Amino acid sequence: MVAGRCYHHPLQHGRGGRLVVEIDIDQPRLSDELEHLAGLSDAPAPAVTRVLYSDTDLAARAYLKGLLAGTGLRLREDALGNTFARWEGCEPGLPAVASGSHIDAVPHSGRFDGTVGVLGALEAIRALQAAGFSPGRPIELILFTSEEPTRFGLGCIGSRAMAGAVTPPQLRRLEDEEGRNLDEVRRQAGFRGDLEDVRLPKGHYHAFVELHIEQGPLLEREGVSIGVVEAIAAPTTLHVKLRGEGGHAGTVLMSERRDALLAGTRIAQAVEEAARGTGSGNSIATVGIFDVHPRAANSIPSEVFLTVDARDTELARRDTMVVAIRAAIAAEEARGVATEVEVINADPPVICDAEVIQAITAAAEEAGFWTRPLFGRAYHDALFMAQLCPSGMIFIPCRGGVSHRPDEYAEPEAIAAGVRVLARTLARLATT
Ligand code: GLV
Ligand code: MN
Ligand code: MN
Repeated sequence: MVAGRCYHHPLQHGRGGRLVVEIDIDQPRLSDELEHLAGLSDAPAPAVTRVLYSDTDLAARAYLKGLLAGTGLRLREDALGNTFARWEGCEPGLPAVASGSHIDAVPHSGRFDGTVGVLGALEAIRALQAAGFSPGRPIELILFTSEEPTRFGLGCIGSRAMAGAVTPPQLRRLEDEEGRNLDEVRRQAGFRGDLEDVRLPKGHYHAFVELHIEQGPLLEREGVSIGVVEAIAAPTTLHVKLRGEGGHAGTVLMSERRDALLAGTRIAQAVEEAARGTGSGNSIATVGIFDVHPRAANSIPSEVFLTVDARDTELARRDTMVVAIRAAIAAEEARGVATEVEVINADPPVICDAEVIQAITAAAEEAGFWTRPLFGRAYHDALFMAQLCPSGMIFIPCRGGVSHRPDEYAEPEAIAAGVRVLARTLARLATT
């Protein structure tokens, strides 16, 4: 044994980094834990609603911390509630290999989005521990705060702040729909640390791998167990306010109207056309919120608030969509409806790291699973972790590609396969 270097049992790694120890995933335990977490919800089963810093979010965090208590991992929480559980490696001071995802759930969604990546990482660590694996680098589980934009309109708040892509002053300005400030709410939730300490330096981690359901149909359709993500699409979000002129629905003549709802519907139409118009299936755009004021059957709508979510794996193509959407908004201004556009985020797409991809692919092969390259089209914390360290993602099939719906479903065997590949990937990346 060389002083200061890791000693690995000769059986731990064979040729080409091959992990020789058996990895045993406790599939029933993982299913039970996913079931329990799904029960911590503000919507009746099978729907799940778990919004940032709500009582159910805090209960879910407490549940996870209870599970972590049995593992001997060292816990840390930052000022936003990002939660880190670290398994020390035998070479102290080396940057860790990290894995994790989110447990917040959009209203009336399902139980697998994000949770598979958190409880799956926990199960992967427990399986490696049970197998007697000894990591060279530390392995760290991360529960990211608020991947979903539900409460503050901004996705990936936790990982975004860790990467420095949102600053503490910007975080302090975030308000929810009730006008409650993020700083106030996170303190009330018990996260009272300094927001300045959330950001991590580049190189803090050696690598990051996120396990997630595909949220698309390809793996299931093709009977492939493991998707190896090559790139993650770049989302931009616009908040659009329209102010026309209200009035009596019976007495204001059609020629004299400045109807904010009609302006909004033309913009929504243009959003769809912008996405279809690029000619690429990777261009996606959605109006997900459309609020009308004063919302009376016999009053002309005077104000509209709508959101635009536009995504693409290529930044230039996404920008083309945004230009078309802005032109449609400008056309409404020319028609006499006042418009206001706020860019909430405009995130860069990510090409996943070649070595992480290689580690996932080798791990899947070693575990006996077919793989397929895929694009990530949803928001993922890996999008921001990639700004801190080499990052990649493992996708598993989900039924019909359905997500953000109560009938979201992934087979226990499919989840276990993903965890098996994750465990082997972490073992490869943590070996020095
Ligand atoms: C979250 O799931 C998103 O893609 O917005
Ligand atoms: Mn989601
Ligand atoms: Mn997710």
